[in-house]
Amino acid sequence: MLLLAVLALALAAPSLAYSLGGFIHSPGATSHGFWGKIESCPVGSYARAFELKVEKPHSGVGDDTSVNAIRLYCYNAARKNTGNITSSTMNRGSWTGVYSCDEGDFLNGYNLKSQPDQVPFTDDTAANALRMYCSQSSDYLESPGNEWGSWLEPSFCGSGMGVCGLTTRVQEDQGIFGDDTALNDVRFQCCDL
Ligand SMILES: *[C@@H]1O[C@H](CO)[C@@H](O)[C@H](O)[C@H]1NC(C)=O
Repeated sequence: MLLLAVLALALAAPSLAYSLGGFIHSPGATSHGFWGKIESCPVGSYARAFELKVEKPHSGVGDDTSVNAIRLYCYNAARKNTGNITSSTMNRGSWTGVYSCDEGDFLNGYNLKSQPDQVPFTDDTAANALRMYCSQSSDYLESPGNEWGSWLEPSFCGSGMGVCGLTTRVQEDQGIFGDDTALNDVRFQCCDL
């Protein structure tokens, strides 16, 4: 009986304006390196836009890494930018341009282009490109990155939720004789809008 009363109280409690949700993840990406620290948009704000840091293909000899970082741009309900977040990053390449949902809309899903591990002694690149979806559009935004790999299955936040944070899995620098892959995988955090 006591348990029921506690449960009833918990269910009746006013819901928080901003509750931290779970993470979405598309399986199948490569798994070199370690998951970085979770970074979230400031409370009451959500990711509306994203940008990739990509290393261009080395022609001929050279160790390709493709995607090195993902940056999310956070906005609040008043449509003001409240900062940007990245989780772990590697330092090669350059930022390649911002892809954004319309003002007042937020990101709510993603798909990653991932190159599977190659046979030994070939040049692995792991993540190569990213698509993200906006709540109010059926089309995706695609930051094209590099050509290698193939798209995983898309993953979406629950209805009424938007992307509000991320953690990235990034392989640290392998030194001159190692095969660097940089960013391998990502999980996006979803929060109630
Ligand atoms: C990202 O945020 C940092 C502060 O955390 C700021 O210094 C930097 O200018 C921001 N970058 C962009 C591209 O908005």
